[in-house]
Amino acid sequence: MRRALLNPFLALIAGSVLLTACSSESDTEATSTSENSPKNTSPAVVNIYSQRKEALLKPVLEAFTQDTGIEVNLVTGNADALVQRLKSEGENSPADVLITTDAGRLYRAKREGVLQAIESETLHKRIPAHLRDRDNQWYGLSKRARVIFYNKDAVDPSEISDYQDLANPEWLGRICIRSSSNIYNQSLLASIIAHRGHEQAKAWAEGVVKNLARTPQGGDRDQLKAAAVGVCDIAVANTYYYGGWLGSDDEMDKQYAQKLAVLYPNQDDGETGAHVNVSGAGVTRHAPHRDAAIQLLEYLTGHSAQQFYANDNYEYPVVEGTPVSDLVKSWGYPFKADDLSLNKLGENNAEAVKIFDQVGWK
Ligand SMILES: [Fe+2]
Repeated sequence: MRRALLNPFLALIAGSVLLTACSSESDTEATSTSENSPKNTSPAVVNIYSQRKEALLKPVLEAFTQDTGIEVNLVTGNADALVQRLKSEGENSPADVLITTDAGRLYRAKREGVLQAIESETLHKRIPAHLRDRDNQWYGLSKRARVIFYNKDAVDPSEISDYQDLANPEWLGRICIRSSSNIYNQSLLASIIAHRGHEQAKAWAEGVVKNLARTPQGGDRDQLKAAAVGVCDIAVANTYYYGGWLGSDDEMDKQYAQKLAVLYPNQDDGETGAHVNVSGAGVTRHAPHRDAAIQLLEYLTGHSAQQFYANDNYEYPVVEGTPVSDLVKSWGYPFKADDLSLNKLGENNAEAVKIFDQVGWK
């Protein structure tokens, strides 16, 4: 019997939480809480606050419910707003799991005190140490690479190989990259600070600003479009957006993708590898269904979930040995990935933001 899944939490009433499991077909699993019993301790449900859109999670959460019998409720929203919500709900929060993208954001959630440490041998075994929190509060579940794209009509790939090259004068007026307020760029610069130190990171950011084709605007897709139509010759973006175009039915998307090629930076011996980040999750501090939450995280590192991330979302698995689709392989996989601890991206975030301000990266 299929059950209705993923309905949003139904009500937050007058300071006390009324949480209703959302299946009309399974009344026995409907649970509610009152002011007298603010915690729902039923193991048959897990409540997620997610910055990731429902479409990116739905198939894998449905499979989780089918395999375990644990219902999933999903609330999606802006990452910072969800963290604020967890803080203001405090111990009355119905949420068990926070899902978000970028280690910088996961670090922030930890710092704000909305996550808790968990022990899971499975997670430790499957997820490499550099892709999870050193205090076990968050775990990377899928990997993404932030790389260089070039317009094939305007650039010969022999002209560029590393992130450092983006600051060279030959690229004057030829680069598109989004605003410094974006966490992806903050994390990229945080990684450069970690590898090359403050001074070199600042000089790099300064050089990139000089080379911009236009004032930073839009998201990663907008940078890729701009490079495809010749507003700039080079764009910096995450690879899954390009993968989405290659896998799209939309003719325009396909045409954009055809104009571009992917260049994984810093691949040579002695170099750091391409900057990688994660989407990830943590169990919330006051999770009413802690065990189910851990079970969900473990499930998301399982074989089928890892394949889903790679093949449907065009990301990369965090678990070694997970096969990826031919489409994902088509623009270069495997590649040399930076193995810097992602903890550093959070720790260096404030410094990165400061450098961006100092060099006038809008
Ligand atoms: Fe993204």
